[in-house]
Amino acid sequence: MSKIIITIDGWSSCGKSTLARQLAKKLNYVYIDSGAMYRAITLYFLRNHIDWTDPAEVKQALLQIELEFAYNPKSDLSEMMLNGENVEFVIRDLVVAEKVSEIAAIREVREFAVAQQRKMGKKKGIVMDGRDIGTVVFPHAELKIFMTADNAIRVERRFRELFEKNPNISLEEVKNNLELRDYIDSNREVSPLRRADDARLLDNSNITEEEQLKLALIWAEASLKLESGS
Ligand code: CDP
Repeated sequence: MSKIIITIDGWSSCGKSTLARQLAKKLNYVYIDSGAMYRAITLYFLRNHIDWTDPAEVKQALLQIELEFAYNPKSDLSEMMLNGENVEFVIRDLVVAEKVSEIAAIREVREFAVAQQRKMGKKKGIVMDGRDIGTVVFPHAELKIFMTADNAIRVERRFRELFEKNPNISLEEVKNNLELRDYIDSNREVSPLRRADDARLLDNSNITEEEQLKLALIWAEASLKLESGS
């Protein structure tokens, strides 16, 4: 059975990772959260006081970073490892979210991450979510999905997620962070967030997780049929 590459791009907190994870499980594919890689790089820069406005310092710092996804049977997830440390939990913090888009806009950072992402897709059979996966990382992917949802719904979803970990967080902070990230992500010079011309649009403001999975599976089946020529 031939395998395909599925890319899921879209705005912050519109449920890309939920869909990507479920889709990968159903198809027995590997799920890769490209945003986690940018978050881990950001964490490294923050912890090591890297001046990311200095390209030479950025290049030097990237040489010290090793990223890897490790499967955790307890959570049934592939978790982000930064130089051998599991950082899956800490990279979701708002402190990281506040800086990640600035750092993800740096050319050297993107080249570093994209090279690794492409390697992970060599054998196909992956679902990768992010901002530039269908446009830059895998422009020839067999199935591309672009996700969106109403702003208020996205803010509410992310607030609930973060509030569980930190009850001191405010809705306003979360809203500001999403707006800022979406602005930087879609206006940056290198690989801005945009819908690929051949991406299928999925607005999940008013549909359930089950419904969106069903739809994506129909698309995946169609792409697989095309790929195997039947
Ligand atoms: O979960 P959420 O959609 O809020 O964000 P994420 O996927 O964890 O990505 C965090 C940030 O990394 C984004 O806001 C982008 O700035 C950056 N990113 C990127 O530039 N390119 C990607 N392929 C994935 C993430």
